[in-house]
Amino acid sequence: MEYETVTVEYDSQTGVGHITLDRPDSLNALSEQLSAEIVEALKSLETQGDSSDRGLRVVVIEGAGEKAFCAGADINGFSSANEGERSERRAHEFIPEFPVPVVAKIDGYCLGGGFELALSCDLRLASDRSTFGFPEVDLGLLPGAGGVQFVTKLCGPAVAMELAMTGEHVAADWVHEKGLINRIYDSEEFDESVDSFVASLAEQAPLAVQAIKRSARTAVNTSRQEGRRYDRQQFNSLLNTEDFEEGAAAFAENRDPEFVGR
Ligand code: COA
Repeated sequence: MEYETVTVEYDSQTGVGHITLDRPDSLNALSEQLSAEIVEALKSLETQGDSSDRGLRVVVIEGAGEKAFCAGADINGFSSANEGERSERRAHEFIPEFPVPVVAKIDGYCLGGGFELALSCDLRLASDRSTFGFPEVDLGLLPGAGGVQFVTKLCGPAVAMELAMTGEHVAADWVHEKGLINRIYDSEEFDESVDSFVASLAEQAPLAVQAIKRSARTAVNTSRQEGRRYDRQQFNSLLNTEDFEEGAAAFAENRDPEFVGR
C-alpha cells in the first residue's frame, strides 16, 4: 500500500513494526488522512506479522523531523467542530483494540490530538526535552478525542482539568511524575534507549504480552471481580502454550527463553 503521510517498516527478524508520522513541515499535525493511514499501517503490519515466522510483537509510533512527535490535530484541516472529530478518533480508538502492544516514542512536541494519540498507545517513552499539553482551550475548544477522559482515568480530574483548562505546555518530568508517561530518557541517548526497551519487549512471550494488554484494557471498564475472572481464564489458557513450557524449561536450565508465540 502507498502511504503519503506515514512511513511503515516491519522487521521480520525482531517482529517490531515502526510507523513514522511523516508530516514534519506541519510538526506531524494529525490530518484526516494521517489518522486513517495510521489505522491502515497497523492493519498492514498485522498482516505482515501473520505471514512471518516471528509474528508482529510490538509496534512503535514516532514523529518525523527534529521537533515533534505530533503538534495536534491539523488546525488547517478542520473548519467545524464536527470535522475536527472525524477519523482522528479512529486511530485513537483502534490502537487500544489492536492486539499487539503499541509504544509511543515521543521526542519533542506532544500536543492536543498528538498527546491523545500517545495516550491511546499502551506505553509512552519520551525524551527529556519533550513537552506536552492540551492547547485546544486557546482555540476555544476542548481535546476532541477523549484527552480529558484519558487523563482523568489515569490520574484524576484535577490533573486533567489543569492541563486542559490552562493549555500550558508542561515538561516531560511533570507528566512522568503524574504517571502519564512510562519512561523519560536522556535526549542524547534517546534512540538507543528506546531500541533497547522495545527489543526486550519483543523478546517477551507474545501471547502473554497480548493477554496482559487485554487484561489492562479490560480493567478500565470492568469490576475487579470480573477482571480477576478474566485474568484467571487467560492464565489457564497460557498454561497450555508452548511458550509456557519453554519459559519453565529455560528457568530450570538457567538460560534465556526463546518464545515463539504458540
Ligand atoms: N496544525 C497545522 N499546522 C501546524 C500545527 C497544527 N496543529 N502545529 C504546527 N503547525 C505548523 C505551523 O503552522 C508551521 O507551519 P509553516 O511553517 O507553514 O508556518 C509549522 O508547523 C511549524 O510550526 P511553528 O509554529 O513555526 O513552530 P514553533 O516551534 O514556533 O511552534 C508550536 C511550535 C507547537 C508551539 C506551535 O506550532 C503551535 O502552537 N502549534 C499548534 C498546537 C495546537 O494548538 N495543537 C492543537 C490543535 S487543536
